[in-house]
Amino acid sequence: MSAPLHAVILAAGEGTRLGGAVPKVVTPLWGRPSVAYPLLAARALAPERIVVVAGRRREFLDEALAPFGVSDGDIVQQDPPRGTGDAVLRARDVLGDAEGHLLVLYGDCPLVGPELLEALVGEHRRSAAAITLLTVSLPDPTGYGRVVRDEGGLVGSIVEEADADDAIRAIDEVNTGVWVVDCPWAFDELAGLGTDNAQGEFYLTDLAERARASGRNVAALRWHDPTDVVGFNTQAELGVVRHVLRQRILERHAQAGVEIVDPDTTFIDAEVEIEAGARILPCTMIEGRTSIAAGCEVGPFSHVRTGTVMEAGSAVGNFVETKQAHLGAGAKAKHLTYLGDARIGPGTNIGCGTITANYDGVDKHRTTIGAGVHVGSGTVIVAPAEIGDGATTGAGAIVTSHTHVGPREVWVGVPAKRLRREESSR
Ligand code: UD1
Ligand code: MG
Repeated sequence: MSAPLHAVILAAGEGTRLGGAVPKVVTPLWGRPSVAYPLLAARALAPERIVVVAGRRREFLDEALAPFGVSDGDIVQQDPPRGTGDAVLRARDVLGDAEGHLLVLYGDCPLVGPELLEALVGEHRRSAAAITLLTVSLPDPTGYGRVVRDEGGLVGSIVEEADADDAIRAIDEVNTGVWVVDCPWAFDELAGLGTDNAQGEFYLTDLAERARASGRNVAALRWHDPTDVVGFNTQAELGVVRHVLRQRILERHAQAGVEIVDPDTTFIDAEVEIEAGARILPCTMIEGRTSIAAGCEVGPFSHVRTGTVMEAGSAVGNFVETKQAHLGAGAKAKHLTYLGDARIGPGTNIGCGTITANYDGVDKHRTTIGAGVHVGSGTVIVAPAEIGDGATTGAGAIVTSHTHVGPREVWVGVPAKRLRREESSR
């Protein structure tokens, strides 16, 4: 049986260059905090534990990671951040002297995927080295730690930019920061690190020389695609990361059989689920935890927000915004509409210009619309309100709050009053 795998995600850096109000690693990227990407990539390898190292403002991480099932006990705090070596050492608070391999990831590198991690862990298990690190060659390696190899081509040390001379700066193979180390060996060595370097920090990278000094090997896996390991320090770099993630999300849906008519103007969050056979028309945003079934149509110009559930064959069209809205099978809202905190039954047609007025300035309220309802153009439904199966509202009706429109009734006017009770069901 192979040794157990653990993972640690370094996420204590403040990201001052980004100038944001929140720590860099919780920056939302298509509805997911940056740190959740490496977390989910690591999870694909089924490690025994994943430890997240938070910084000064730990509460941001607690909140960002709760929806991903990360419990308090898996988050450790590093305050102040004293370097990557010290950050990895914090994982010992959770892992103790557990034996196995420890995968090290950064919370600000959201493009790291499971294939890369599997390749790296596989290499580590094969090589029996103390450390296996992932490297890439960059046309411009400025800012990165350089990988210094000996005559035999083995990794001898990693030298940070700030500590490098010109000869070392000329090396184009860099440390990506994605590592696998043996523990508890690595913890013991990290506990003995010093800070005698240009930045006065505990460098994880110093572990390479320590391994060699104690007669152990440092293996390196050269990765072909530097895109997979880019991080972000500035708004410009964040833009690049967002762009790549967005393309990947769109490609994933296209591969799964979703028709995306114009990928250039379609924006879909990472957690959105769309079944094969759904059609997404141009100039559309689909956000948060939303699910769209087969045969649905979204767009053009739709803004589908978190908590929306679209059942088979339902449709939202031009300038329609939904939020926490459940559209039953075949329900349609094709034009100029807001559906918030609403449940719409199957086969219901929401006329052009309908608004569920869900917010009274203090609280949000729900609207429930039954099956086979005809909501007339320009209807405003002031929540909480309920419209029964097969009912109709006239154009421009204002259904005031706490109204219950009965099944098959017709309501019209401002404020809406019952016009008649329809006996035949539609
Ligand atoms: C680090 C590497 C460098 C590598 C580069 C790749 C070291 C010493 N240097 O440099 O060789 O080329 O990454 O991007 O390891 N963090 C903490 N606690 C700390 C310091 C950092 O959690 O005390 C986290 C940060 O949030 C970040 C990651 O570790 O996610 C890397 O830290 P950063 O300061 O960006 O390291 P670099 O100087 O870029
Ligand atoms: Mg960095």
